[in-house]
Amino acid sequence: MTDRTMILGMHLGTGYGSQGMSWRAPGVDPANYTDIDAQVRYARAAERGKFAFLFLPDNLAMTRGIDREVPQATLDPMLSLAVIAHATERIGFVATGSTTFNEPYNIARQFKALDVMSHGRAGWNAVTTSDPSAAANFGRTIAERPERYGRAHETLQIVQALWGSWQEDAWVKDPDTGVFVDTDKVRPVNLQGTHVASRGPLPIPPSEQGQPVIFSAGGGEYGLTIAGRYASGVIGAAFTVDDARAQRDAAREAARQAGRNPDEIKYFAGVMPALGTSVRDALNRRIALNEDSFPSRVPYLGAMLGLSLDAGRLDEPLTRAQLAAAQASPFDPRAAHALKVAHQGWTVREILAHGVIDYHPTPVGSAADVADHLQEWFEAGAVDGFWVSPDVNETDIDTFVDEVIPLLQDRGLYPRDYDGTTLREHLGVPYQYGIDPRTA
Ligand SMILES: Cc1cc2nc3c(=O)[nH]c(=O)nc-3n(C[C@H](O)[C@H](O)[C@H](O)COP(=O)(O)O)c2cc1C
Repeated sequence: MTDRTMILGMHLGTGYGSQGMSWRAPGVDPANYTDIDAQVRYARAAERGKFAFLFLPDNLAMTRGIDREVPQATLDPMLSLAVIAHATERIGFVATGSTTFNEPYNIARQFKALDVMSHGRAGWNAVTTSDPSAAANFGRTIAERPERYGRAHETLQIVQALWGSWQEDAWVKDPDTGVFVDTDKVRPVNLQGTHVASRGPLPIPPSEQGQPVIFSAGGGEYGLTIAGRYASGVIGAAFTVDDARAQRDAAREAARQAGRNPDEIKYFAGVMPALGTSVRDALNRRIALNEDSFPSRVPYLGAMLGLSLDAGRLDEPLTRAQLAAAQASPFDPRAAHALKVAHQGWTVREILAHGVIDYHPTPVGSAADVADHLQEWFEAGAVDGFWVSPDVNETDIDTFVDEVIPLLQDRGLYPRDYDGTTLREHLGVPYQYGIDPRTA
């Protein structure tokens, strides 16, 4: 038992799930990509599990591999969330929005509108975008980091200033006096940066949480400065408990450097549970979901282990000689785990089914196995919570909610209900309206 509890976000990146072939899984409608009712169903299931937020990544270009695999984003995160907001009551939303390919006024308006419409449940994952195909869709190229991050700082400050430009008591709406808005309290921001500018004001009143919660994703010095100054949540990616703890500590230190209380920033590591009734069952499900892709992944697995592996021998474990020669590549943080799994005697196909080259750690097995992983990282002080990517949304969100969540609750690690109604309350981060004066 600890005195803090774990905060969970549900990744709704695609209409299907995190596995490329999730669109072909039993019970899944292959047309989910355009079916908002499916997204609503998944959002409601996550809300039943008291998830603090849905996380919607975004790409401003077609993702690779969609000849056979699911696209990595919804049709449009903000439009999807407008519908989902109307169909849910408590769960928060974190949508990704580019600081490079949006003007601050567009971001400020859309996110605050969603925040008001959802009664204080919106969050903005501010990303700088490094994908050349996204740039090409705007007739541009990707600028160097100093320029993109310079624009990001300006955009974040202008967006927050616009959010605060309609003062909290400006909306009189008194039919007797005939005064709708006290325009002395809705003031221009008149901000001119090097990259972006806005006069304002933004004619949208505060929500129940004041304004949307800011998240950031990605690390490095540039990313940490963004997180430290503005973010209340960090969408992280870490393969080991030590790496997660280092990332969390770095985000907290960046907040401290920016004059904030480190407890105001929450760090979330990704996790991709392979959830079944047992380890064997979970592996079988993963194998069925990946049969197309295993042969092409064998060479990479070999490189991680310092071996030349034969894609034609997927169903054999590594030989004694191979295991003796295998070494975890220092260039891939997943390699030590892959080596450990290989030493357990699994076949090459089963090693891959353990998710050893997936984007996030993959606890494999029953609900208890998954809960153990979450508990270990949480109790090690490595995370404030996780963003969870289910293999197949249609089935695995329910399984997680019905089987993993009760275990976490019984272990005293996870709340039994929502404490409040806003995303800020779910995250335990303070109310904010306008620019944070400590970081302006
Ligand atoms: C876990 C995680 C999730 C991310 N999600 C997105 C996303 O959905 N869309 C996006 O454009 N960038 C996303 N990013 C950010 C980019 O991957 C990358 O950090 C960003 O483009 C910054 O690269 P840069 O430092 O070259 O600007 C994510 C980063 C991480 C670590």
